[in-house]
Amino acid sequence: MDNSPELDALLARLDTGASRDRISAAADVAELEVVERDLLGRRSGAREVREAIKGLDPSERPVAGRALSSYEAGVREMLAERATALAAAAAGEAGAAERLDLTLGGHGLNRGHHHLVTQVQRELEDIFVAMGYAVAEGPEVEDDWHNFEALNFPPGHPARAMQDTLYVKLGRPEQVMLRTHTSPVQIRVMQSQPPPIYCVMPGRTYRNETLDARHSPVFHQIEGLAVDRGITFGDLAGTIEAFTSAYFRTTVPTRLLPSFFPFTEPSAEFAVGCVFCEGSGCRVCSQTGWIELGGCGMVDPNVFAAVGIDPEEYSGFAFGFGLERMPMLRYGVNPIKTFFDGDIRFLSQY
Ligand code: PHE
Repeated sequence: MDNSPELDALLARLDTGASRDRISAAADVAELEVVERDLLGRRSGAREVREAIKGLDPSERPVAGRALSSYEAGVREMLAERATALAAAAAGEAGAAERLDLTLGGHGLNRGHHHLVTQVQRELEDIFVAMGYAVAEGPEVEDDWHNFEALNFPPGHPARAMQDTLYVKLGRPEQVMLRTHTSPVQIRVMQSQPPPIYCVMPGRTYRNETLDARHSPVFHQIEGLAVDRGITFGDLAGTIEAFTSAYFRTTVPTRLLPSFFPFTEPSAEFAVGCVFCEGSGCRVCSQTGWIELGGCGMVDPNVFAAVGIDPEEYSGFAFGFGLERMPMLRYGVNPIKTFFDGDIRFLSQY
């Protein structure tokens, strides 16, 4: 028996292929809900078919009913599959967004760095190396000959008393000491090589001094020594101006005032124009416009004699100054003890 035209018209409306296309086009769960309502809801074609079945000839109703049921079951299955796929995709995206990248680690490891004094020491070394100087070091525990005698401090000379020496209980009394300055390294360098010598000698030095804002029993110095034919006091003055300008990164005026050291003749105290007030006078320079840095002078012939250099052939200059003073001036570090406290809150700033 052929279907009635009414039945064929109803069956034609149950288009599984077109429904599958709509379901798979739904891009997310919300869109899928709309599609579900369109396909199976109260105003859907399927619902219209269900209503229309009632108007069919009773003999054709079971055929139409089974077709509708299998269409609806198929659509539900496709909807469920699509819902599962969309949920999985959404979960995947959320997972990617919320993922913890454990490869980064919880806390960064703090890398250490050089102490501010070491940084400044290296910086000054670089300045001098650029001017053709070598860098040398010597022992912190010295004997009387290197620390005093060869530097023209005869035994009993009053200049020794000014050095506030810390002696070490070793050998004969007052023969072994913590070096009071880096000048003994000059002696060691001149003993180890013939001129020409252009050398800087940084290092730790010790004096029996009471700790105050600017003095510490442990501190650092850097020494400079140039020995060559025809070296003059003008070379010394120019060298001081060159390295202070390089360190303070601006042209700073320098001043030399007469002074005394047993190992230099003539001797001078050198100062730089105050980098804070540019000479007009402030608290840092005690209203003088100048900041004292260190001592210097022409190498005394007696020192050349001690190390076997002919003072008729060669001349030289030397200078020495406290290393801590340089970062104290640049960064306003105060008091000097701050450098030796080992407080990480201070150290990590530089
Ligand atoms: N050694 C001297 C001091 O510690 C400084 C200095 C070095 C002076 C070289 C002259 C030449 O005071």
